[in-house]
Amino acid sequence: MNVPFFRAAIGDDEINEVVGVLKSGWLTSGPVTKRFETEFAAAVGATQAVAVNSCTAALHLAVEALKLKAGQGVLVPTMTFAATAEVVRYCGAVPILVDCDPVTLNIDLHDARVKLQQLRDGKLPTALRRDLPVVGIMPVHVGGAMCDMGDVREFAAAEKLWVVEDAAHTLPAAWRADAASPWQRCGENSADVTCYSFYANKTITTGEGGMAVTDNRELADRMRLMSLHGLSRDAWDRYRGGSWDYRIIAPGFKYNLTDVAAAVGVHQLRRAEAMRAARQSIAETYSHELADLPQIQLPPTCPNRLHSWHLYPIALELDRLSVDRNTLKQSLTDAGVGTSVHWRPLHLHDYYRDEFGWQPEHLPTATREWERRISLPLFPSMTAAEREHVVGTVRKLCRQYAK
Ligand SMILES: Cc1ncc(COP(=O)(O)O)c(C=O)c1O
Repeated sequence: MNVPFFRAAIGDDEINEVVGVLKSGWLTSGPVTKRFETEFAAAVGATQAVAVNSCTAALHLAVEALKLKAGQGVLVPTMTFAATAEVVRYCGAVPILVDCDPVTLNIDLHDARVKLQQLRDGKLPTALRRDLPVVGIMPVHVGGAMCDMGDVREFAAAEKLWVVEDAAHTLPAAWRADAASPWQRCGENSADVTCYSFYANKTITTGEGGMAVTDNRELADRMRLMSLHGLSRDAWDRYRGGSWDYRIIAPGFKYNLTDVAAAVGVHQLRRAEAMRAARQSIAETYSHELADLPQIQLPPTCPNRLHSWHLYPIALELDRLSVDRNTLKQSLTDAGVGTSVHWRPLHLHDYYRDEFGWQPEHLPTATREWERRISLPLFPSMTAAEREHVVGTVRKLCRQYAK
C-alpha cells in the first residue's frame, strides 16, 4: 500500500462551481473572488479579507501595507517556511531570527526578548546592526496549534511592534488563554493582519492561493490596491462600471486570485470544519495507537486550542533508536508511507547563514528539534486501511530500530 503525505479532498461542489466559472466567460478576479472574500471574512470573524494567489503574497502585502522599509528589522521565528522571512527581505528589511518552544515549535517569546537585548548589546551576528529599528513580529502557528496570541500581543505592545500572523496552517483554529476565557478564532482580532495559505496540501486548498484578513480598513485598502498593480480600479469594476479608465496610484504587484481558484475555495471553506474534525479524529487515533512507543514523542494535546491539525509531527527519541531521522524517514518512504519534515530552520539554510552570519548555536532549540521531527500523513479522505498502514509501519520500524 502507498499512503501519500497528502491528498486533497475535492468534491463535486468544487468541480461544478469551477465548470460554472469556466462557462461564465469571466475567469480572472470577479464575482466569485468577491464572494470568497466575504464568506472567508465571516468565517474567521474579521471585517476585511483580500484574496490573493498565495500566502506569500498575503504576507508581502501585509508588511508593505504596514510600511516595512529597508533598514528595519522584524522578529521572525527560525522554525518556519521560507515565505515568512523572504517577504521581509522583499522590502529590504532584516529578519531577526527567534528560537522556538521545544514542544510546539512555535515562537519562543522569551527568546524574542533575549534576541532584542542581544541586538542592542551587539551580541548577534555582526551583519545585524545594533541600532536596527525593530518594527514588527510575525508569529507562525506551526502545524495548526496556535501560539498564545494574548502573550504575542502583550509583547508586541510593550515593544511597539506590529503583528503579522502567518496562519498558513491555521484554518480553522482558535485559542483561549485559559478555560475561563472566551474562545477566539484565528483571524478574529488576533493580529494587525492574518495571512492564510490555500496551497495544494493545506487545510483548505485552491491549488495555489491565499487570503489576508484584518479589521483595519486602511490596511485592507492598501493591500487590495497593491495586489493588482496599484490600479485605482480592478478589471471587474471597470467591466461592471462600463468605463475603461483607471489610474496607477502605486507600483503594485500582480497577486490577485482568479475566479477559477475562488470557485474551489468557496466550497472548501464550507467544508473546512468538517475536514478539520476528520483530521482531528485521525490524529486522535494515531495518538492512541502510538502512545506506548518509547522511541517517539507524540504531538502535545493543547487544552486551550482548537487545533486545525494541518500536521501530525512526531519527535524521535534519538537515544532510543539505532538510526537517525533521515534513515527512519527513508524507511517509511520505502514502506509506502509519505512523510515530510517541518522544517529545516531558516538559520540552517545557506542564504541566512551566508548573508547574516546565523550559526546553529544562536538558535539551539530549533537546531536540536528539527533533527528529530517527521510529519506523518494526515488528510480528511484517509481511509481506515491507510491509517492502519501508517500506524503499523511506524510501530514496526520503531521495533526494528529500537536500541
Ligand atoms: C508557515 C508557512 N508560511 C507560508 C507559507 C507559504 O504559503 P504559500 O505557498 O501559499 O505562499 C507556507 C507554505 O507551505 C507555510 O508553511
